[in-house]
Amino acid sequence: MASVGKVARIGILISGRGSNMVALADAVSDGRIPTAEITVVISDRRNAAGLAGANIRGIETLVIERRGRPREQHDREIVAALKAREVGLVCLAGYMRVLSREFLDVYRGRILNIHPSLLPSFPGLEAQRQALEQGAKISGCTVHFVDETLDGGPITAQRVVPVYQGDTVETLSQRILIEEHKLYAEAVSLVLRSEGFESRS
Ligand code: GRF
Repeated sequence: MASVGKVARIGILISGRGSNMVALADAVSDGRIPTAEITVVISDRRNAAGLAGANIRGIETLVIERRGRPREQHDREIVAALKAREVGLVCLAGYMRVLSREFLDVYRGRILNIHPSLLPSFPGLEAQRQALEQGAKISGCTVHFVDETLDGGPITAQRVVPVYQGDTVETLSQRILIEEHKLYAEAVSLVLRSEGFESRS
């Protein structure tokens, strides 16, 4: 990905609401990620609410559904779309599918994910519920590189939030989400700087 003086082309994969995608797009627009552009947003679900948020920002969107195909075949189509647009960094933002080995091999070390817990605690689904059920006093969010493991790749950034007595999944999720939106932009900026991307200014 190293490419001094050039702008990193980011592809974002979503399945639903897309608030982290919007947070990344806005961080690029307002200069908090000064070395990048959001090149494409790809959803595996036609009705993902996040698609509207991308469209309104003038970002190209694609819907690439699984349609009963094997994972590898679905991923091949996504990878082809990313490569055709010379995407150098892939950000998963609420993308609800496990990536195939083939996808990982093409973009190894260039795929980030955000997860709503302090990994390695509470990987997988319903991380906020897991934290509450375990009686955790703190939780938070993590940005990490994606590998074959479930939410287990190298961590690039974390943010802690308190868990209050009386918290519900909804109140804790909302507290974490506010931090996710800031953290993802910071982590992407950090990764791009470490890859030698320079500011446009
Ligand atoms: C976020 O909590 C993210 O950490 C998790 O899925 C949720 C996606 O939310 N991976 P959004 O689609 O970005 O609003």
